[in-house]
Amino acid sequence: MTDHATAPLLCVRGLTTTLRTDTSEFDAVSDVSITIGRGEAVALVGESGCGKSLTALSLMRLLPSVARLSPPTSVTFDGVDLATQDDAEMRKARGRKMAMIFQDPLTFLNPVMRIGDQVTEAIRVHNVLTKAEASQLALESLERVRITAPAQVMRYYPHQLSGGMRQRILIAMAISCKPELLIADEPTTALDVTIQAQIMDLLADLRRELGSSMLLITHDMGLVAEYVDRVYVMYAGEIVEEASVFDLFAAPKHPYTQALLKSSLSVDRRTEVFETIAGVPPNLANAPKGCRFHPRCPVAIERCAREHPGFTDMGNAQRARCLLLEEGA
Ligand SMILES: Nc1ncnc2c1ncn2[C@@H]1O[C@H](COP(=O)(O)OP(=O)(O)OP(=O)(O)O)[C@@H](O)[C@H]1O
Ligand SMILES: [Mg+2]
Repeated sequence: MTDHATAPLLCVRGLTTTLRTDTSEFDAVSDVSITIGRGEAVALVGESGCGKSLTALSLMRLLPSVARLSPPTSVTFDGVDLATQDDAEMRKARGRKMAMIFQDPLTFLNPVMRIGDQVTEAIRVHNVLTKAEASQLALESLERVRITAPAQVMRYYPHQLSGGMRQRILIAMAISCKPELLIADEPTTALDVTIQAQIMDLLADLRRELGSSMLLITHDMGLVAEYVDRVYVMYAGEIVEEASVFDLFAAPKHPYTQALLKSSLSVDRRTEVFETIAGVPPNLANAPKGCRFHPRCPVAIERCAREHPGFTDMGNAQRARCLLLEEGA
């Protein structure tokens, strides 16, 4: 018998997401395994295009039509295998079990619908409530994300709100059904630094209040250091390292993680370019043989171009995909 209180909330194994283009088919996410404990905050980090958003969308089963899940994908949430759920069950799971916050609230909000109606509607998708009950719950959600004069804001349209306020609305929608897992995909990248801190602090507070877990997707190692317990580092569709925040910053094992940490000191927050990692990430449709990072790796040896590295366990729940670790170098 599995003990529900101690079993992890989310257990992803072998997640593989295949993309179909006009000319080819390839795995944009390959064999990703992620575990998130109850109440735990975990980050998924990596350069633009490495597959972070596709990973999140795969978990939510909100993939674009060009993408599909492939074997050996298994996603267990709260002891239930989501892969066997039909679309109706999955719709119920979204919102109640897990909810997602996106980078750009404007693409998510309907420009011609009042905020109150949108939040009310989002609540009614997941709950059998009268309009009045849902509307009351919407008001409470806006209060919970610390929006001042929430009754007034309910009557506004999205364009009447600042970027930070819009993101609060999205958070209000996401938490309205008290999800056990909150997935935040670059929730503050579009905001300026002060607002960014306010939103992150709000997420941290809400997480504590609701006792939910969080998957934070970000480029920003500063946010990682401050807001999560554990980190998964992604490169070219694969997880290349996982560790506690402490171990990751104190002793990063994968050369890519090392480069990421070094370069994060010089990240331009507006362009999010990691300026000091030489070269560009590979085109996933044509990923390099061997270790996917080897063409950019400063310490690659000849083996790296031939062999695809598995994980080497470093102890303390830290592991990395690097042949040099196998060799004990
Ligand atoms: N709808 C789509 N159609 C075609 N290709 C896509 C689609 N969505 C993602 N991709 C491709 O899949 C790969 C992974 O994309 P993804 O959006 O997951 O990256 P990401 O790590 O979230 O990047 P970013 O940090 O820029 O948000 C990229 O090569 C991207 O071009
Ligand atoms: Mg993304």
